[in-house]
Amino acid sequence: MRKKIIAGNWKMNKTPAEAVELAKTLINKVNTNTVDVVFCVPYIDIIPVCDVLKGSNISVGAQNVYFEESGAYTGEISPLMLKNAGVKYVIVGHSERREYFNETDDIVNKKVKKVLEHNMTPILCCGETLKQREMGITMEHIKMQIKKGFYGLNSNDAEKIIVAYEPIWAIGTGKTATSEQAQEVCAGIRQSLSEIYSNETAQKIRIQYGGSVNGKNAAEILSMNDIDGGLVGGASLKEEFADIVNY
Ligand code: 13P
Repeated sequence: MRKKIIAGNWKMNKTPAEAVELAKTLINKVNTNTVDVVFCVPYIDIIPVCDVLKGSNISVGAQNVYFEESGAYTGEISPLMLKNAGVKYVIVGHSERREYFNETDDIVNKKVKKVLEHNMTPILCCGETLKQREMGITMEHIKMQIKKGFYGLNSNDAEKIIVAYEPIWAIGTGKTATSEQAQEVCAGIRQSLSEIYSNETAQKIRIQYGGSVNGKNAAEILSMNDIDGGLVGGASLKEEFADIVNY
């Protein structure tokens, strides 16, 4: 039985003071008894939010990382720094990073490896554009992202990764994939993982859905067989996030 995991991706929102306030509001509202809960906050909010969440079951995640440990990489953050600050999860290869910051599958793969090396959990994102969906190449595209993202990792490492399926056309648009569409792709992802590794390994890997998840649609999406959680953008910045966790 895979434990569900709900992660909020705060994206580029909340100053440190606002982040502390939001974390304090949510901490008493989310029920963490049966679900893993993560707040993926901006870098500058990591330390104050970790402070607020101390003693709770909520973990802090980062939204990105660089694949070197230290050195002359102006403006980047190393996995060592994140680990040291208290980070447990790192989102890697979000579609916004792929689109606006030219992150390729090769870069994503390097980052996934580094995150694992530092004993944090990568949340590896994949997803198709509207055009790809209309062209009927959704699964081909996603299989390629999965193959490249997991390249060079053994099953032991693969089992530690969380995959987030986020159709790009559903992100921030209010246009959610139907639960059947989401289930179909998540099942396809599990199928590719079983082809790369084994059915046993594929059954252990948690797969989240992301894209306009809210308090109203969470229960239906999360009831699907191959959907083991949600990666939530907009609704993670509000009290509504608690409704999603407590679905
Ligand atoms: P929204 O929930 O705002 O659609 O964002 C989804 C997302 O990109 C989470 O990573």
